[in-house]
Amino acid sequence: ENINTVVFENSNEASKAVAQEIATLIQAKQKVNSPCILGLATGSSPKGLYAELVRLHKEEGLSFKNVISFNLDEYYPMEPNSINSYVRFMKELLFDHVDILPENYHVPDGLLTKEQIADYCHDYEAKIEALGGIDLQILGIGGNGHIGFNESGSLQNSKTRLVALDHITRVAASKDFSGLSNTPRTAITLGVKKIMEAKQVILMAWGEGKANIIKKSVEDEVTNQIPASFLQEHNNAIFVLDKEASSKL
Ligand code: GLP
Repeated sequence: ENINTVVFENSNEASKAVAQEIATLIQAKQKVNSPCILGLATGSSPKGLYAELVRLHKEEGLSFKNVISFNLDEYYPMEPNSINSYVRFMKELLFDHVDILPENYHVPDGLLTKEQIADYCHDYEAKIEALGGIDLQILGIGGNGHIGFNESGSLQNSKTRLVALDHITRVAASKDFSGLSNTPRTAITLGVKKIMEAKQVILMAWGEGKANIIKKSVEDEVTNQIPASFLQEHNNAIFVLDKEASSKL
């Protein structure tokens, strides 16, 4: 096992522990008047985390005024108000319920023209770099081992870019888009390089369905066929799992 793992009884307990870790980091940065740079993820895995962060804000006064966040990815093309847009997901689950400043959260723009994408992706990374990099990156994992939308074959030094989604990823997403033919074929994703440059990485995975890919990512060889396996080479990455997701380790 080349990646540290921590296993919880269930995803609820795990999500609370990750939320506590984030709260501690935000507060430590507040004490020294520094921004806290978070890399955020979508998908079902972080939903419990965001619910707990909202609770910590409402019930325990956790402030997000010093938080600057960068989401991993967005479908392309995608209307921000669409039911499936990741910016809408983030607003509904987190941003609209805490005191993060609207200018401080970033989700890749699904409405760019093709011609704008390269410059936009370059600027997205430049903003992160200007802030000194991501302090803590939250990740889920696709069934094929993708992180963000860095699919199999993504290079370890890949940049933020427009990618073609794997068939298997589109099939998984098609339930939200009422059918494969309505499911986007492309997305904008933060590259592997910026993920690897984050000072700390927490990948969360729940359920039996993730057990195989977790085993491969943690214990098998590092390969660009399974981008999550790159995290074996990160010096501060941890996989937070429930019992089912850890069952093949
Ligand atoms: C999508 C997202 C990924 C996410 C993955 C897994 O592909 N772009 O960032 O990790 O789904 O989703 P879930 O957490 O629902 O299993």
